[in-house]
Amino acid sequence: MAGRIPDNILEDILSRIDIVEVISGYIPLKRAGRNFRALCPFHHEKTPSFMVSPDRQIYHCFGCSAGGNAFGFLMQYERLEFPEAVEVLAKKAGIALPEVTRQDSQTTSLVTQLYKINELASFFYENNLNSSAGHLAKNYLLKRGLKEESIRLFKLGLALDKWDALINYLRSKNISLSILEKAGLALSKEGGGYYDRFRQRIIFPIFDIKSRAIGFGARVLDDTLPKYINSPETPIYTKGRNLYGLNFSREAIRENDFVVVVEGYLDFILPFQEGLKNVVASQGTALTYEQARLLKRYTHNVVVVYDPDKAGELATLRSLDIFVEEEMAVKVVSLPQGFDPDLFVRKEGIKSFKDRISHAETLFDYKLKVLKSRYNVKEVADKAKISAEMLSTINKFKNAVIKSEYLKKLSQAIDVQEDALLAELKKIKTERSYAEPSQVDAKKASPINPTEKLLIKMMLEEKELIHQIRQALEPADFQDERLGRIVSIMFDLAGEGKQIEPHKIINYLEDQDLLQVICASTFSPEVSGSDKEKIVNDCIRRLKSQKLNSRKRHLHEQIKNAQELGDEEK
Ligand code: UTP
Ligand code: MN
Repeated sequence: MAGRIPDNILEDILSRIDIVEVISGYIPLKRAGRNFRALCPFHHEKTPSFMVSPDRQIYHCFGCSAGGNAFGFLMQYERLEFPEAVEVLAKKAGIALPEVTRQDSQTTSLVTQLYKINELASFFYENNLNSSAGHLAKNYLLKRGLKEESIRLFKLGLALDKWDALINYLRSKNISLSILEKAGLALSKEGGGYYDRFRQRIIFPIFDIKSRAIGFGARVLDDTLPKYINSPETPIYTKGRNLYGLNFSREAIRENDFVVVVEGYLDFILPFQEGLKNVVASQGTALTYEQARLLKRYTHNVVVVYDPDKAGELATLRSLDIFVEEEMAVKVVSLPQGFDPDLFVRKEGIKSFKDRISHAETLFDYKLKVLKSRYNVKEVADKAKISAEMLSTINKFKNAVIKSEYLKKLSQAIDVQEDALLAELKKIKTERSYAEPSQVDAKKASPINPTEKLLIKMMLEEKELIHQIRQALEPADFQDERLGRIVSIMFDLAGEGKQIEPHKIINYLEDQDLLQVICASTFSPEVSGSDKEKIVNDCIRRLKSQKLNSRKRHLHEQIKNAQELGDEEK
C-alpha cells in the first residue's frame, strides 16, 4: 500500500490531520465514550457498529470488518487509489508532495494507466466524430435532437469503420497492446494479434464520479444488432457500481433532493440538455445495491422513469425493492406506449416530462396497480398471487408503522383480512435480497490465533513491551504468517527507534486481514496497566510451548514414518 511515497511523508500527513474530522465530513459521528460511533457507510445496518478512535486515529466496523486509517477511509468511501487519497489529505494537511513521487506513483499503477488509456481513447473517438469521417454520425446525433454543446459536454465520439484505428493510434503513443486488452478496448485474435473492440459505432464515454472515462458504450448508426456494445468489466470499471451521468448531476440531485433514474444514455442526455439536471442512467441493467448506496449519498428520494413495457414487468418492480431496503423513498413513472424519456422529451417537451415526474406514484401504489391489471382481484387464487408479490415489498420496509399502514391499504385494495396478510407476512423469511459482500468476505478469512493477536494488541498499547517481546520471540514464532509479518514490521520500526502507532503501521500493510487485526484490536477493551507484564509473559510462554508442541508433533510423525518404512538409521 505504501507505494513510492516516502513513509515519513505519509506519517507527517497522518500526524497533522484528524480522522474524526475527515470522516465526519462524510457521515455524522456520535460520541460514544472515548470513541465515535456511526452507522457503517460500507454495509447495511440498523444499529451503529462503525467506530472511530480519535486516540488511535483508526476506524473499524464490527459488522463488516471494514477498517483503516484516514487514507483507507478515503479510498473506501470515495473509491480513490492510494496515491490519490494521499494527495487529498496532503492538501488538507498543508504538506507538499514531492513532484517526483507523484509522477512515480502515477506511472506504476495499472489502474492509473487504464485511466490514461481511456482518456486517450476518448480523445481519439471525439476527434473522429468532429473530422470529415464523422459527418454521418454527427448528423445522426443532431437529427436525434442533441445540441453541439451536449456532444461536447458528454465527449461523444465515433469509432471508425476499421479493425485497427484505435490500436494504431494508441501504439503511436507507446501503449502496449496487452494493456489495451486489459482496458477492454482491444480483443485478441485467435491466430495472434489484436483488433479494435468498437468499430463504426457512436461512442459514449462512461464517466466516474470524478469525470474520468472508465469505460465506453457504443451504439450502431442503423438498426443492426446488438444496438449497443459496452466495455467489459476492467479494474476500473464495474458496471453495477456506476451510474451514467452522476458526475454531471450530483450537485443538482443534492439541491433538488431527488433523483430521476432512467435507462439509456440518450434518456439521460436529452432531459439533461433540456433542463432536467438531477438525472442518472442505469444503462439498461437491474439496479444494484451499490448503485442505490451511491445515490443515497446525495438524496433519499428516487423517481424511476421507464417505458411502459419495462415498467410493467414484475422483475423490474422487484428490483426496486433495493431502494426500500436502503430506506429510500421510491416512486415510479410509466411513459405512454412507444415512448422512452428521450423520445418523450423531444415530442412532448421537458415541461410535460417534469410534470409526469411530479405526479409519480409510490412503488407500492404503482406495483399494486400493475398487479391488479394483470390478475383478477375477485379470484381467490389471484388474490394470493397479488398479496405474495405485495407482501414481499412490504416486508422490506424497516419501519413497523409503515409496514402496518401498507398492510391496511393492501387489505382494503384486494379485500382480504389484515390478519391473514399479517400471517403471510410472518412466513416470509427475512432474508435480504442481496448478499452483504463484505460480511461474506469476513467469514471466509481463516481464524486468527487469539494469543498471537493479544500480543500484538499489547505491543500497540505499550511501546516498552515491544522490546521485551523482541528479546523473547522471533516473528517466525508466530504460527500465523500474516501476524508474523505485522510483528516483524513492528520489530523493525522499534529497532529504528520509530514510533509504533496503529494508524501509521497500517501504511506498511498490504493485506486486508492484517489491517483488520490492527483495527479490531484498537477497539477491544484495554488491558489494565498492572496486568500487562503478566499477560505478556503468559503469552510468550504459550507461544513457545505451542511451537515446541508443533515441533514434537512433527518429529513424532517423522519417527512414525521412518518406523513404517523400516528406516532404522533415521
Ligand atoms: P434501449 O434499448 O432502451 O436503448 O436500451 P436506448 O437507450 O433507448 O437507445 P436509442 O434511443 O435507441 O439510441 C437502454 C440502455 O440499455 C443498454 C444501453 O445502456 C442503453 O442505453 N443497452 C441496450 C445495451 O447495453 N445493449 C443493448 O444492446 C441495448
Ligand atoms: Mn431511446
